[in-house]
Amino acid sequence: MTHPLFNIENKVVAITGAGGGIGRAVAKGFAESGARLALIENAEANFEALRGELAALNAHAAGYYVLDVTDREGCFSCVKQIVEKFGQVDVLINLAGINQRMRPELYTEAIYDRIVDVNLKGTFQMCQAVYSFMKANRYGKIINVGSITAIAANQHLPVYAATKAAINQLSKSLACAWAPEGIHVNVVHPGWIDTALSRQARVDIPGHAERVVATTPAGRWGLPEDLVGTMLFLAAPASDFIDGANIVVDGGVTSQL
Ligand SMILES: NC(=O)c1ccc[n+]([C@@H]2O[C@H](COP(=O)([O-])OP(=O)(O)OC[C@H]3O[C@@H](n4cnc5c(N)ncnc54)[C@H](O)[C@@H]3O)[C@@H](O)[C@H]2O)c1
Repeated sequence: MTHPLFNIENKVVAITGAGGGIGRAVAKGFAESGARLALIENAEANFEALRGELAALNAHAAGYYVLDVTDREGCFSCVKQIVEKFGQVDVLINLAGINQRMRPELYTEAIYDRIVDVNLKGTFQMCQAVYSFMKANRYGKIINVGSITAIAANQHLPVYAATKAAINQLSKSLACAWAPEGIHVNVVHPGWIDTALSRQARVDIPGHAERVVATTPAGRWGLPEDLVGTMLFLAAPASDFIDGANIVVDGGVTSQL
């Protein structure tokens, strides 16, 4: 039996970047908990693996929405469609994110703009798009996704790290503004998690894969499934007095000198 504090059955959970490595694990975790899913990706093809995985779980209610989160009008219209289909939106998880690794002096304006637009503007716009519906219900949960690079950085990811640190402050500000209206905004900072995004880092940065294992107290790369429990907790009533918090899920890597 599920304790009521952890019951998210029938909650409507919108997930951006749902077809990505972490997104798929999180979507499956919420499906297994009986949530109704609104899954968002920037291209239909990105749903392919997820559709099969959810079908295998007999996930009872899922809607699929193609949206580039940099499209402001698109964000508002996507959330409107979700509410039209499901009647509400209870939880938003902003997982859509990109990175391009190179030394700072090599970034072009176009690369800078794209990373900032997807990671920071996209997150902000989706938060704004769910706001009026959550406010009307006087309840909502927003989980934004930072990174351990919001806390420490390296020479290959100046723009990505800046967006992730900015998501932190954005989320604290939203939490202050919206907690009085029953909307709880928090941030999860994943460590080194084995997905397409981080697999490219192993190509871009020689020795990276081995260094991650050597510097992580848990002694391994994270798996997308390592994020699921924290996401479920922040979506559930158990976290109703948590606002503007940062939860690091990194096997201890940022705790070690
Ligand atoms: N993998 C890691 O080690 C790690 C560490 C820290 C933080 N994160 C963050 O976790 C989140 C998920 O990362 P992941 O590792 O699953 O990466 P991923 O590349 O597997 O997934 C990201 C997903 O976002 C989607 N996406 C990209 N741009 C989009 C846009 N404009 N509109 C809508 N969707 C878009 C992609 O299609 C992809 O499916 C990202 O925000 C990432 O920055 C990942």
